[in-house]
Parts: sequence; structure tokens; C-alpha cells
Amino acid sequence: MSKTNIAVLGAQWGDEGKGKIVDMLTPHFSAVARYQGGHNAGHTVYVKGTKFVLHLIPSGILHPGVTCVIGNGVVIDPQALFAEIDELGRAGIGVDGRLLVSEKAHIILPYHRELDVLSEARRGERKIGTTSRGIGPAYEDKIGRRGIRVCDLLGDRDALAEEVRENVSARNRIIKDSTLDWKPVFDQIVAAGERMRPWVTDASLALHRLMADGKNVMFEGAQATLLDIDHGTYPFVTSSNASVGGVCTGLGVPPRAIGGVLGVAKAYTTRVGEGPLPTELSGELADRLRESGQEYGASTGRPRRCGWFDAVVVRYSARINGLDALALTKLDVLDGLSEVLICTGYRTNGGTLNEFPADLRCLAGAEPIYERMPGWSSPTRGVTRFEDLPEEARRYVRRLEEVTGVDCAIISTGSDRTETILETGSVVERWLAAR
Ligand code: IMP
Repeated sequence: MSKTNIAVLGAQWGDEGKGKIVDMLTPHFSAVARYQGGHNAGHTVYVKGTKFVLHLIPSGILHPGVTCVIGNGVVIDPQALFAEIDELGRAGIGVDGRLLVSEKAHIILPYHRELDVLSEARRGERKIGTTSRGIGPAYEDKIGRRGIRVCDLLGDRDALAEEVRENVSARNRIIKDSTLDWKPVFDQIVAAGERMRPWVTDASLALHRLMADGKNVMFEGAQATLLDIDHGTYPFVTSSNASVGGVCTGLGVPPRAIGGVLGVAKAYTTRVGEGPLPTELSGELADRLRESGQEYGASTGRPRRCGWFDAVVVRYSARINGLDALALTKLDVLDGLSEVLICTGYRTNGGTLNEFPADLRCLAGAEPIYERMPGWSSPTRGVTRFEDLPEEARRYVRRLEEVTGVDCAIISTGSDRTETILETGSVVERWLAAR
């Protein structure tokens, strides 16, 4: 059987636990390639009790010998990249020879963060709740065709100086009474380019060569489908394509390179930042989920908003991404609840809604239609076989499969790699067997 390249991406509003799933699947892949986003992401991985939080570098880096690719669709803050590399270095993990950075990736300039914060302040009540990492402004420059790419840092210095001068004067026009000098910006990014040089390459070509050599690749998404610039809850989204389409544009690989799509969804729902969240809970129950699930942003430390599992959202994600299977995470966080609720549709002014609406006013007014199921008192934490789960937990998982129309091939029952169930006979097992 030929090898299968798969995409692993978020099926909700992010923070589903993609880091852990990518990390546990990595030993079956030769390369892990990130296709969008920037250091707004925070992928938390626990290895033998040690916590790693990766923002830019694919979590595959924790496995020796695995090639890690930062694709052209990613926006790179060089200082954030270096900080991450230095931290990995302190843990004895080297990146040289196995980190590839696309020469076409755009750079987050030192003042993009400031523009992000300013833009949020200008929006006032309508703020997005961004991570303040400069992600939006960097993508704005990219789409506005004035962005600076990694290859520009390594090319003609005069041309780069001209670009930086123009960009900085555009910035000075936006920020009242601002007179930022272009030269320190230029010097900083030139120095960054020199440090990045050994890793910079035509990442698309590298991936094509790997695949032509019979190696398999995992395409790693950041953020999630409901934060996708096109398919998410616009404008309360990030500025890139987190859904499966981003794989092709963000890495320069053709659609047929994607052999399977694994959606990662939490056994409940969380969201950071602003925007509607139909199943959002408040009070004691929300606090309980937040504490038990440690629902605080991996990048910003912000408390996450928590709610019940929303099947409308995951069905929508399944459609947009063509999900072959789900990795259901954090089932153990629901341990000990007397009942668990699943949202199967929305009640709106006009009647019931089974499809995710584009109009946020409609979504904001949508009232979840819930199915109530009995909870479980014995713990699922650390369980590694489906049949060892409490009966109510098994029924909950089976019901989620029915209402989303997607099988749960992986169930995560704790934060460590080992606290995982891989369903026998699942499509993921078949992907991993095809080696
Ligand atoms: P930005 O990506 O910083 O521009 O933020 C836009 C929206 O995406 C905000 O609601 C953020 O909270 C959200 N967001 C960005 N990155 C992540 C992530 O890794 N997990 C969850 N939400 C994120």
C-alpha cells in the first residue's frame, strides 16, 4: 500500500489539542509541515511530564529525524522563531538539518504588533480579541502586495532597503505623529535573515521531493475551521485559511497530495477572543470546565470561553474539510458531570437551523437545541482502550459520531501522549498501517 499524507486541523475554534495529536502521530511520518498562521498559535505537548509549547515550529520537532517545514502560508516573526529555537536548544533539541523555512513565507515586521494593538483599540467594542502578535497586519501587507518575504531578506540589500522605507513611511502615515525610522527595522530584519539562512529553502520543492521519494508528510493546521478567514465566524477570525484549502496554498502542494483529513475536536467547545459561541456556558459549570480542562490560552494566557459540544459546528467543519475522521480530545475533562449536553441544531426567529449560518447576527441570536445524556462517574482519564471507558462515556462518543456524521478514530483521555485511544479498524489505523 502506498503511504498516506494527511492533514490534521482544528474542527472548532482552536485549542482542540492538535499539538498532542500531531505529536502522537509523528513517529509514522517523515515530515510535518505547517501551512498557515503564525506565533498566534500555541501547541502544547507533554512528553514524560515535560511541557513544550510550540508556536511556529511544527510539534514534529520533538521527534528526532523528522523534517519540520514552515510553509509559505505562515507569517514569521523572526524573534519568536529564534526564541522557540533557543528554548528547544536548552531542552537538547536541535533544529539544524531538519527545519525548513519557506523562502516565500512573509515576515511579521517589528511594528506589525503595534498596528494590531492599535487596530483593536480603534474597533473599541467591536474588537476581534486578537492575540496581539501582529498576525492580521502582516497578512494585510501580504494581500496588499507590499509584504516582505524571507527571500527578500537574503536578496538584494538595496531593493530591501527601498521596500522597508516604503513600508515604514506607510506605517507612519497610519499612526498619527509617528516618525519611526526605517533603518533600525532594516538592520533588525537583515540580521534575522542571516540567522534564518541555513533553514531557508524552496519548501514546496523539498516537500515534492520527499513525497516523490516515498516519504509521507503530515500537514499541520493552526487555529481552526471556525477561525478561517473565509469559512469562520467572520470578522471574528484569524487572517489565514486554517481549513484544508490552506494546505495547498500554504505549502505549494497539489490537492491530490492530501490522502486524508483528520479533524481535531474537543469533547466540548472553547473559544478565545470575541465573537458568537452558541453553546457558551457561564457560572459554575463554565468555571468547572475551564479549571478541569486548564482552558487558558497557550499563547496569551487568556481564559477560554467554554460550552457544550456543538454538533452543528463540527458537521460544518466536516463538510468544509471533508473530514475522514475525528480525533476527540479532552474527554476526561467531562468526568464526574451528572449529565452532558450536545447541541444538535439552533432555534432562531425563523424556526430551526441545522446548518451553520454565515450571518453573525443570526448566529448570535441562535439558541442551541440540546440533547441531554447521562454523565459518568468513573474516570476516563488515562484509559487507552475504548471498551474500558465507562458505558455512558462510550454512549456519548457514539452519539457524537451520529450527530456529526464522522467517526472518532482517536480519543484523547489525558494530556500525555500515552493517554490516548486509537480505535481498532479506524481509518487512522489504516493510514498508519500503509507504510
Ligand atoms: P489573531 O490570529 O491574533 O489575529 O486573532 C484572531 C482571532 O483568532 C482571535 O479571536 C484569537 O483569539 C483567535 N486565535 C488566534 N490564534 C489562536 C489559537 O491558536 N487558538 C485559539 N484562538 C486563536
